[in-house]
Amino acid sequence: MSPKTVPVDPFDCVIFGGTGDLSLRKLLPALYHRDRDGQVPPTSRIFSISRKAMDAASYRRLVENRVGKHKTDQTSWDRFLGRLDHIALDAAGGADWSRLKSRLDEVPGQVRVFYLATAPALYGPVCARLGEAGLAAPEARVVVEKPIGHDLASAERINDEIGKVFAERQTYRIDHYLGKETVQNLIALRFANSLFEPLWSATWIDHVQITVAETVGLEGRADYYDTAGALRDMVQNHLLQLLCLVALEPPRTFDADAVRDEKIKVLRALEPIGEDEHAIIRGQYRRGASDGKAVPGYLEELGEGKASRTETFVALKVGIGNWRWAGVPFYLRTGKRLAARTSEIVIQFRQVPHSIFPRSAGGLEPNRLVIRLQPDEGITLHLMTKEPGPGGLRLKSVPLDLSFAEAFAGGRFPEAYERLLLDVVRGNPTLFMRRDEVEAAWTWLDGSIRAWEEGSNAPKPYTAGSWGPTAATALIERDGRTWHEAAA
Ligand code: BG6
Repeated sequence: MSPKTVPVDPFDCVIFGGTGDLSLRKLLPALYHRDRDGQVPPTSRIFSISRKAMDAASYRRLVENRVGKHKTDQTSWDRFLGRLDHIALDAAGGADWSRLKSRLDEVPGQVRVFYLATAPALYGPVCARLGEAGLAAPEARVVVEKPIGHDLASAERINDEIGKVFAERQTYRIDHYLGKETVQNLIALRFANSLFEPLWSATWIDHVQITVAETVGLEGRADYYDTAGALRDMVQNHLLQLLCLVALEPPRTFDADAVRDEKIKVLRALEPIGEDEHAIIRGQYRRGASDGKAVPGYLEELGEGKASRTETFVALKVGIGNWRWAGVPFYLRTGKRLAARTSEIVIQFRQVPHSIFPRSAGGLEPNRLVIRLQPDEGITLHLMTKEPGPGGLRLKSVPLDLSFAEAFAGGRFPEAYERLLLDVVRGNPTLFMRRDEVEAAWTWLDGSIRAWEEGSNAPKPYTAGSWGPTAATALIERDGRTWHEAAA
């Protein structure tokens, strides 16, 4: 695949937390790839901001060491390094911002993007300083990462603080799942084909499964993760965004507000989560094996003697109270240290209303549409067919497979951040979360999180390398259904 590369307007990207993990693992590689493909205009610059005293040369050395593995050729790499600079600034303190301002003013007329790759507690203070320094001009954009708060009240506080300086149209709340190719493809699948939409409702769909399974554990993020857990870290944002894209009504256009207006309707129609084992299962991994290697349990990873009720796995049965989806359960699950790294959406259609076939033909399996987000992106539609050969009619479920790697052979799929960063420069917020979406997601989850935190139940243990606690299997099997991999 060769992505179409239309250059964007010249920009300056200022990354607060420029020496941090997100910047070195995701943002800089993304900017490099777009630069290499010719999308970044010559005068564009990238400023890293952190408390570390460092000049441009030592920052470039750090980037060479940590990001250099993405280099495809020396010319593009040297050009990219040449765009980098570092400014030491205690972003929250009363430091002198004049150097940043004068560096930015050196090239007038560039789009200014302020990317806050910092702890959310710094979003308000950094925005305030940007305002005081005269850097929050109406054309400037601010990008914030999740988690935006840890509940509704804290999310509102952070949004208010950002909102004092930047208007909503200048604020880009990233959910990197929306930048994944296959997630955007879900919109194409639903609204660029006439085939599925007439079937896309409770009339023909039995249930939906959304799985985001990871094999990794804490990855050195214990301080953050132990205060968050799977519900806040993954469900509040990524899984709910996926659910919205499956469930939303056709937007009038593919415009930011048209799409987001439809997503918010879904979020507001989510039925309250019950607090019993029929609705939600929380789990925590114990030692086991992941990717063929022995791995410690969650508590051991946290450190000797630590106790924690934080869930590293959650499975939920969710209802959407509207005409389209009444009675169709959406089963969601996500967890760390699971059996495989796989993210997928499964649309399970209903059984045919009446079988015309004799028993000897074998059972009829309902159609199943599987949208694989990662790895091995693609779509599989399971159809019933006749097995070839003489000797009577035998039916068999056969996959009709669309592998994106094969269909669009010959190139790499851009990473989510590549698309999203350039959308910020273009001023296109369609794939970003609006304030009301973030707050509606918290409103829905808050009660459940509070009830759990006030209670004393322990998360259900599961062995690292498994598919989660057995109670999660029971959650869906109680309804006469199975998780997709169990049936495969
Ligand atoms: C992040 C979570 O938002 O998404 C991480 O904070 C998680 O805990 C990650 O590992 C998963 O993203 P991806 O793109 O690897 O599926």
